[in-house]
Amino acid sequence: MNSPRIEVMADGGLFHIQGSSSSLTIANYHGLPLRLWWGSRFTPSAEALAEIRSDPPPYSVCDDPDDTSWSSARLHLDYAPPLAGDRKAPAFIATSTKASIISPRISGWRTYEGRPTLAGLPFARAEASEVRTLELTLSDPEAGLELALSYTVFEDSDIIAHNVTYRNKGDSIIRLSRASSFAFDFAPRHSMELVDLEGTWARERMARRSALTPGKKLIGSNLGVSSHRFSPVCALLPATTTEASGEAWGASLEWSGDWQFSFELDEFDCLRWSGGPGAEGFSWELGPGETFVCPEALLGWSEEGLSGLSDQFHEFLSRRITPPRWRGKARPILVNTWEASYFDFDAQGLDDIARQAARLGAELFVLDDGWFSRRNDATSSLGDWWPNEAKLGGSLEDLARRVDGLGLGLGIWIEPEMVSPNSDLFRAHPDWCLVAPGAPRHRGREQLVLDLGRPEVREEIKGRVRALLSSARFAYVKWDFNRPLGLPGSTLLPPERQGEASYRFTLGAYDLFKSITSTFPDILFEGCAGGGGRMDYGTLSYFPQYWASDDTDAVARWAIQGGAGLFFPPCVIGSHVSAVPNHQTGRSLGMMPRLAAALGGILGFELDLALLEAADFALAAEACNWYKDWRSLLQFGRRVRLPTAAEGDRSGRSPFADDAAWMSVDEASGRAVVVWSRLRATANPGSAFLRLRCLEKEATYMISIPPFVRGPGSSTLARKSGAGTRSLSGAELMRRGLEILPGTGDATAIVFELQRV
Ligand code: DGJ
Repeated sequence: MNSPRIEVMADGGLFHIQGSSSSLTIANYHGLPLRLWWGSRFTPSAEALAEIRSDPPPYSVCDDPDDTSWSSARLHLDYAPPLAGDRKAPAFIATSTKASIISPRISGWRTYEGRPTLAGLPFARAEASEVRTLELTLSDPEAGLELALSYTVFEDSDIIAHNVTYRNKGDSIIRLSRASSFAFDFAPRHSMELVDLEGTWARERMARRSALTPGKKLIGSNLGVSSHRFSPVCALLPATTTEASGEAWGASLEWSGDWQFSFELDEFDCLRWSGGPGAEGFSWELGPGETFVCPEALLGWSEEGLSGLSDQFHEFLSRRITPPRWRGKARPILVNTWEASYFDFDAQGLDDIARQAARLGAELFVLDDGWFSRRNDATSSLGDWWPNEAKLGGSLEDLARRVDGLGLGLGIWIEPEMVSPNSDLFRAHPDWCLVAPGAPRHRGREQLVLDLGRPEVREEIKGRVRALLSSARFAYVKWDFNRPLGLPGSTLLPPERQGEASYRFTLGAYDLFKSITSTFPDILFEGCAGGGGRMDYGTLSYFPQYWASDDTDAVARWAIQGGAGLFFPPCVIGSHVSAVPNHQTGRSLGMMPRLAAALGGILGFELDLALLEAADFALAAEACNWYKDWRSLLQFGRRVRLPTAAEGDRSGRSPFADDAAWMSVDEASGRAVVVWSRLRATANPGSAFLRLRCLEKEATYMISIPPFVRGPGSSTLARKSGAGTRSLSGAELMRRGLEILPGTGDATAIVFELQRV
């Protein structure tokens, strides 16, 4: 166990925060926090302080009116306040009736065992003995603003939780128009590249790597949710860093509303990276005695490439973010009704799907949208959370009983943060939606967003959802959110404070999530926002899994799940086999490649199972059977991306140019599963060797192909070994690789089991 440590040197002039193999050093320089180093572990010396380069460059301004010997222009700052010398974007902007610029300086520090708790916000869970925190206080006594910056370091991790709290200790109102969760400079070490996840509905989390050039780049969301467009996670790495080697830094915000990451490269090759809540238009009024707490940022470092960074974040998310009672707990195979019948179903249809689901070997039957009030399309009833018993052929408890009789749990879809204009809830409370007084109500998917910043709205919704979830034995809830906020406003706020509405909405949503999930701790909640529109470390603090996309096409899913996999482990990614032609892309693929893609996350099905050909049904049923034996490895083992085209020959002529592959490894038991798929079949393909990773070189592995696989190489493997298995050394599997003989149809995907002998 690596205990977290924080060393204070030079009487509080230098702080050394030690992760399991990293060092982060912060200096106090004329009251400004400097980030001297964040990277591999070394023992800093107090002499570093004397070497800080602060001589004013030509054409610059000095920060201290009484001392022209130094300027902040070239310093590497941590959470930079607005400064005269350094003119990159400050970490925050605060003004008051007394001061148009508020620029506090370090006025104190402390270290302690434990971590700050954040009222109303999600934060990483830890026992006090597992963490240490350095807290720096920055104050501007004139303006009455005090900031607490804290850095929490965890045992066995190189992730640091960064927190910022603003306190108004004066007697005038302070207005915040920017309040980053973190902001720091990289000393000019390398030319840096950004890996971020961009997309849109049905194309979420496309990983992209791009060079950062001088100037400023911004990514974020002003949609009121973390969004499909960009995700509040990203990595920075030198151009030389690869999948498995070199340094990589990463950040993730535990926040589900508007956000921004900014990357600003200056003329001295200093890169300022900041991130936090709020888009353009954000503001927050801090009255005397009030506090504003920023969402937590998780900052990670690895010198084992992007893989090493992913490992860090996967482990951290599973251990410290998702609700503890779901940690390591097998996620059930579910069958969801959405793509099977959309809004158009009756009791008979539901019973048929449930019967087929049981025959398949699924464990949960999930009733998606369309089960309540007068909801037969997307135009009505959100808010009226009572069952349409005529459509369901009885109560929800009746349905739960029937489903239970088949050996399945019952799951249900809800979208509690919304209201349809055509609903009893809206007719009773037309003023409850999220619009500024007098502003038009803009609809999206024929629905409005409820103003969750208002306590009475939250209480009513909590009551309705509690009544629903108490009305039958539910094992699972899919919690959806199907439109962005648009132009949010709140009748609770005066005109000059409308910039708070979106932020307050997210705080209200967290209150709702917390209240409902803690009232029903045995229900498995899956988050969803028109697919993956709010998949972030904030929602995952309440919902242990997430529906990653409305695109269920297997080829699209490799990209979506591959991108998500940079920061999200497989145990949080919902992934379903669906019908062909696929409803989003029109593509038709065999059952094997569809299964291979869905094995990348939590396996589920979302199609009319009765329409499957017998052979495909049998294959899927066998796969479910196999999955149950291997799921703890697939869901919770170490997930390793395997180099195919990404790091191979980019000419397109490599045998892997159109392939994707990953493996799940459990180093302790020596078990692994390898999944490979050819995303674009070629005629007359050659064979290829897939190089595995993370095995023991000296060990021997028995390789077999699960019984359900009708994939490439399966018959060759059987022929080669007679018994259907063969043994190879870890070294051979990692260097020469596993031979794959691609074909077409089902032969474009294969699964291997490995067992160390
Ligand atoms: C969007 C979700 O992502 C879908 O899976 C489905 O639940 C629909 N909403 C239902 O309206």
